[in-house]
Amino acid sequence: MVKICCIGAGYVGGPTMAVIALKCPSIEVVVVDISVTRITAWNSDKLTIYEPGLEDVVKKCRGVNLFFSTDTEKHISEADIVFVSVNTPTKTRGLGAGKAPDLTYWESAARMIADVAKSDKIMVEKSTVPVKTAEAIEMILTHNSKGINFQILSNPEFLSEGTAIQDLFYPDRVLIGGRETPGGQKAIETLKEVYSHWVPEDRIITTNLWSAELSKLVANAFLAQRISSVNAISALCEATGADVTEVAHVVGKNTRIGPKFLNASVGFGGSCFQKDILNLVYICECNGLPEVAHYWKQVVKINDYQKTRFVNRVVASMFNTVSGKKIAILGFAFKKDTGDTRETPAIDVCKGLLGDKAKISIYDPQVTEDQIQRDLTMNKFDWDHPIHLQPMSPSAVKQVTVTWDAYEATKGAHGICILTEWDEFKQLDYKKIYDNMQKPAFLFDGRNVVDPEKLREIGFIVYSIGKPLNAWLKHIPVVA
Ligand code: UDX
Ligand code: UDX
Ligand code: ADP
Repeated sequence: MVKICCIGAGYVGGPTMAVIALKCPSIEVVVVDISVTRITAWNSDKLTIYEPGLEDVVKKCRGVNLFFSTDTEKHISEADIVFVSVNTPTKTRGLGAGKAPDLTYWESAARMIADVAKSDKIMVEKSTVPVKTAEAIEMILTHNSKGINFQILSNPEFLSEGTAIQDLFYPDRVLIGGRETPGGQKAIETLKEVYSHWVPEDRIITTNLWSAELSKLVANAFLAQRISSVNAISALCEATGADVTEVAHVVGKNTRIGPKFLNASVGFGGSCFQKDILNLVYICECNGLPEVAHYWKQVVKINDYQKTRFVNRVVASMFNTVSGKKIAILGFAFKKDTGDTRETPAIDVCKGLLGDKAKISIYDPQVTEDQIQRDLTMNKFDWDHPIHLQPMSPSAVKQVTVTWDAYEATKGAHGICILTEWDEFKQLDYKKIYDNMQKPAFLFDGRNVVDPEKLREIGFIVYSIGKPLNAWLKHIPVVA
């Protein structure tokens, strides 16, 4: 029986391994993590992450051929294939601070593998890492190998949160990069066999190591670039009276462009896009390519601009002050169908509003109060974009309340900001909400989930990203 061990039971490692276990009953899969809390949760009825369909998959395999454990050393030493899916945060200090990824967790995982291995192993990079990480890891492994043969593969994960299980069941492609040596090719074949249990052969792409590592960064950079492109156009639409949804629809009908990922929004979030672009920027700078670095950096800058523009729009519309006013925030997660808040635009929007002394009341169906308070007090890495404000002072955090009900959050509010596109926000009784708000009642839709015309009929003053403004908003200059 082939044994797989995955280091890191996070958003990537957990769901990916659960699906491998489901699709490959002949393989034993153990997911290990240094966090006892995380492993305990994976072994309980309340998994650490909310992901549609995940619970079903875990329940079918857990205890059969899927296990979660903190005994890292034992399971690494027994495994034939070790996936490494640990976190790679952006460095906050030292060389490359604010841009370069911090590979501490990676290095310690590699050293542990070298330390405990007693038989030949294939080590698989699963978390996104900078190009040439494999080379560094290979060096750590071979210099500490005690005669054991290690093969290193890059197998980046392309799943999106909220649709992870479907993405894993029916991937567009599986990418495996490896050395162009007989040993490297054999390792590629071994991993290919695992995926062949459910992925059609023509969807499994093999490349060299560096292409695989770079492809992941580039795929995310291209996706983020589409959002920044449409968001940049949303500002122009507001200025000219065009409707960004109509423009995006027309543009997307060109088959060379395609319709997906053209939704204008308050900005992209998530653990990958910004981090991967910063990573790409850093690699370009290190390779003497400042023009290329500048080009990609602009994608992040436009994203920051969009968040700042949104906050400024809110404050300017509400007579240039939100001081002491209750503002309801509907949605805090970085997208719908996840409880994940990493890099969510809601953090920057809330900080911006709190900076203007608003009282904010937050409702998100999947994010806990603890998480929100943590997000609003944490330090951001110090990079050259102004949206990353200073950490919240404890007194500012007192201005934040978190509720489990959209009607409660909006009661008595002067304004509402929709920051995540949860389906339930389309179904709310906006007449009831309007009746319980201060007047004039403002609604700022950062995800274009409501029909602005219908809400205007109720009496709301509505701002939707990239849509024609009503008479009041048209006359308010907004400087980003
Ligand atoms: C992304 C990539 O899609 C995935 O392939 C990769 O493996 C990890 O990073 P994820 O971050 O989970 O996945 O979610 P994604 O659906 O890509 O959304 C990222 C952000 O962009 C979200 O904040 C989302 O709301 C925003 N977005 C997405 C838009 O603002 N407009 C769009 O049209 C699409
Ligand atoms: C373009 C638009 O495609 C068309 O829809 C519009 O109506 C007019 O402008 P055109 O300029 O005739 O059409 O040719 P196009 O095929 O778009 O190529 C433009 C340039 O981009 C060419 O120099 C082409 O060689 C180059 N190109 C195109 C690339 O370098 N790489 C590509 O992948 C595609
Ligand atoms: P991702 O979104 O890429 O999956 P996460 O942060 O959700 O990232 O998950 C990474 C996991 O890796 C965390 O649960 C963390 O505790 C775990 N981890 C980091 N370093 C190690 C290590 N050396 N051994 C075991 N687990 C680790």
